[in-house]
Amino acid sequence: MNVPELTLNDGYQMPAIGLGTYQIRGGQGVNQILAAIRDGYRSLDTATNYDNEGAVGEAIRRSGLPRSAFFVTSKLPGKYHRYADATMAIQESLYRMGLDYFDLFLIHWPLPKRDHYVEAWQAMIDARIRGLIRSIGVSNFEPEHLDRLITETGVTPAVNQIEVHPYWVQEALRTANFQRGIVTEAWSPLGRGSAALQEPVIRDLAGKYQKNIGQVILRWHTQRGIVPIPKARNLKHQRSNLDLFDFSLTADEIAAINALSKPDGRIDGQDPNEYEEFD
Ligand SMILES: NC(=O)c1ccc[n+]([C@@H]2O[C@H](COP(=O)([O-])OP(=O)(O)OC[C@H]3O[C@@H](n4cnc5c(N)ncnc54)[C@H](OP(=O)(O)O)[C@@H]3O)[C@@H](O)[C@H]2O)c1
Repeated sequence: MNVPELTLNDGYQMPAIGLGTYQIRGGQGVNQILAAIRDGYRSLDTATNYDNEGAVGEAIRRSGLPRSAFFVTSKLPGKYHRYADATMAIQESLYRMGLDYFDLFLIHWPLPKRDHYVEAWQAMIDARIRGLIRSIGVSNFEPEHLDRLITETGVTPAVNQIEVHPYWVQEALRTANFQRGIVTEAWSPLGRGSAALQEPVIRDLAGKYQKNIGQVILRWHTQRGIVPIPKARNLKHQRSNLDLFDFSLTADEIAAINALSKPDGRIDGQDPNEYEEFD
């Protein structure tokens, strides 16, 4: 399966779709990730908070493919935002994965009430200089958080990974990211298997293009310039979620999906200004 790539603001390339791995763990998880790699996934999204960096690293090794074939992302937990903690946490993540660099490393949540994310960002800038990370980015950052990083360090994140799905379209934040040269990645891009998958608008488009509902939603993301990272354990889902670059929605069809957005459409009500990570 041929997956197109995007160029990040630091010059590195990133696949236009990746595999989410939240709750894919242990031996069964290794096999599920390995199946996805065999189907063509090269971008794998993990996080220290998912307790599965080991399984993702193991699947990469068992695939027999060279390290350079992969685009591996992990994320810094909130309890490690202090400079020294962040520096160690990046190294520990690499040890757990059995890798010597990350393609992308993200601050998982800004936790603005604790207000240490600029320190964490500085640690990531320095880890990049030491070759431990290629691209550095953030997750769940609002424009004011992005601007603080940029103003205080002069370094713009390459990626902002945020919640986006048909009930939480995030047009304003997508635009804010774009204006700053930041690629938007979508977490829970399928709404975590929610009612969005039953929406008649999307079902009708699936019929029109002879695609399934997941493919229509994921294509909607990629045509908005967003990189989705759907999680799928089911092999059929894994396979079909990659097979979406042979059709295009019209501008009106994209607008019709955008119109499904709800003011309270977040899956778990996780507001980045309020959300406190579990420690
Ligand atoms: N940065 C953050 O704060 C943050 C937060 C949440 C998630 N994430 C990342 O984003 C990834 C994806 O989000 P998510 O796991 O919450 O939700 P998601 O990818 O929107 O949805 C996953 C669910 O959709 C099902 N599914 C997958 N493909 C399908 C298809 N083609 N048709 C119908 N159902 C399909 C999966 O079932 P099967 O497993 O049975 O295939 C699974 O139950 C996570 O794994 C994680 O890597 C990041």
